[in-house]
Amino acid sequence: MGRVEGKVALVTGAGSGIGAASAIRLAEEGAIVYCGDINRDSAAATVVEILSAGGKAFAAPLDISSSSECDAVIAKIVAESGKIDILVNNAGVNLPSVFHETTNEAIDKTLNVNVKGAMYLTRASLPHMLAAGGGSIVNMSSVNGIVSEPFLSVYSASKGAIVMFTKGIALDYAKKGIRCNAICPGWVDTPINYAHAEMLGGLDHVYKTIDSFQPIGRPGTSREIANVVLFLASDESSFMTGSIVSADGGMTAQ
Ligand SMILES: NC(=O)c1ccc[n+]([C@@H]2O[C@H](COP(=O)([O-])OP(=O)(O)OC[C@H]3O[C@@H](n4cnc5c(N)ncnc54)[C@H](O)[C@@H]3O)[C@@H](O)[C@H]2O)c1
Repeated sequence: MGRVEGKVALVTGAGSGIGAASAIRLAEEGAIVYCGDINRDSAAATVVEILSAGGKAFAAPLDISSSSECDAVIAKIVAESGKIDILVNNAGVNLPSVFHETTNEAIDKTLNVNVKGAMYLTRASLPHMLAAGGGSIVNMSSVNGIVSEPFLSVYSASKGAIVMFTKGIALDYAKKGIRCNAICPGWVDTPINYAHAEMLGGLDHVYKTIDSFQPIGRPGTSREIANVVLFLASDESSFMTGSIVSADGGMTAQ
């Protein structure tokens, strides 16, 4: 038996990076995984990868910044698969900027995707989790939910909001069998960081000097974060709720 055998999961941002790795990891351990992403083709590619490895998956294209699309995707999952056991609020954007030059569009997009998207999907999922007597919600925050970095004031604010949203949901549903935890990854090698890396002198420079901020001395891999997602999604973490779990190569130990 897999570690999440028969559980129905939605992973957002499943077309790339940490979300793709998380969808694959959950499917490897027996979950039926809905791969949500605004990029229809990349979500479909993750589904193909899961199916070709013998797992169960469906594409769930959506823009998480739309509350109606979030409501619709949860309704569709429950109609098709009967329940939603695991929600991984992973999709996100990072639009680094010098703050006094930041556009309204960048502020709105960052908060709409990174904060409101997680709220909309959580709100839509909770009635089904309550009816079923339980569920696990895993929110992707960031080290930047705890500490900031140059050019990341808006992104950091969005990830800090996710830390507190996680704690709020954990408290409100602790007696209902619904757990909610957050992960704070350090620098992981995915495209979300490329714009930030450019502002810091380029990706090569960042990786050559990564020792200076990530003591383990290398970027993380998406699979290393997916392993934490799997643990928090599964019953193995049954005593954990409201936890903010760092997976950051020691970055916030300093
Ligand atoms: N890579 C890192 O170093 C790092 C560190 C800390 C936290 N994170 C967080 O991990 C999460 C995943 O990021 P990643 O590193 O895999 O980046 P990524 O860019 O590889 O993947 C992000 C995915 O989210 C999708 N997405 C963006 N906007 C969306 C929307 N409105 N609706 C649906 N899907 C949308 C994108 O299409 C993409 O597939 C993000 O929340 C990010 O903030 C990443």
